[in-house]
Amino acid sequence: MTSPPIVRADGPALARAAALLRAGRLVAFPTETVYGLGADATSDTAVAAVYAAKGRPTFNPLIVHGADAESLRRLVRFDDRADLLVARLWPGPLTLVLPRQPNCPVSLLAGAGLDTLAVRMPAREDTRDLIRLFDRPIVGPSANPSGRVSPTTAAHVADDFDDTVLALILDGGPCPVGLESTVLDLSRPQAALLRPGGMTLAEIEAMIGPVALPDSDPEQPMRSPGMLASHYAPSLPLRLDAIDVRADEALLAFGARVPPGAATMLNLSTSGDPMEAATNLFAMLRALDRPDLAGIAVMSVPDEGLGQAINDRLRRAAAPRG
Ligand code: TXA
Ligand code: MG
Repeated sequence: MTSPPIVRADGPALARAAALLRAGRLVAFPTETVYGLGADATSDTAVAAVYAAKGRPTFNPLIVHGADAESLRRLVRFDDRADLLVARLWPGPLTLVLPRQPNCPVSLLAGAGLDTLAVRMPAREDTRDLIRLFDRPIVGPSANPSGRVSPTTAAHVADDFDDTVLALILDGGPCPVGLESTVLDLSRPQAALLRPGGMTLAEIEAMIGPVALPDSDPEQPMRSPGMLASHYAPSLPLRLDAIDVRADEALLAFGARVPPGAATMLNLSTSGDPMEAATNLFAMLRALDRPDLAGIAVMSVPDEGLGQAINDRLRRAAAPRG
């Protein structure tokens, strides 16, 4: 297995990546949240290759990335709530699910056949330069096999894909947010949180008022097809809310008071900073996922702000494997 070439995301590399996308190939790209597996959103075959590369069920739709809000308005119908959020919170880790425009050129497969589409404008200038050069929207699921931990460095991506499926990895360094974008459904009158993520609920509710939470609507269990219980999982079992640790366990710590005796230990944030913890979460889960250990004990992180998204990912990583 040969890893795909990793190149720094500068001007020539972006031009090379745009040419590969035009040829229908897959290119991994950095965003502020996690690395994405990029492909031409308007091409059925390129989008199909993304599902195949990830081993992702085709009922789980992809996020379409645009360089600016204007180009995304041609794909989906924005309402007043979307306009407010976009004016204040884009670019940034917030994905909006909106009704498709009648003439939307995005592959139906990208939206899993739904009449809605998830769109987002990533914060990195080089990511948006790539989309501008390509001059079409790109799909960008996290660049990991389905069900595994999302990549926050170019090396993580290279660990998971070879050059037969992935043509190029654009290296933008470690992702500063470290968690995927928050996914907000605005396709119905009641705004609903589909996935907690890098943009906190408080920031969103300050703009548009109360948002329904994921499990508060039992009538619509599949409103977010991607939120299956077991997801984002390392190979080792996770033990949550640990206050002690066994000699055969790795410890994923949080804060200054750490129980002794772990086989190995990494600290999400010694100072107890949730932003720092979010940035470190996926990379540390990967680093502690060692075959010589029996499990990963995880200390609790306060369930506020970004902590809600961190705890969501930890619960999924600890869920029984399907
Ligand atoms: O931060 C991110 O969002 C990253 C970076 C690369 O942009 N991308 C990402 O994509 O996390 P992905 O494919 O791993 O997650 C997309 C999520 C899934 O939970 C999916 O079910 C949901 O968005 N989604 C996409 N389209 C949807 C739709 N039309 N309706 C409801 N949920 C949708
Ligand atoms: Mg993902």
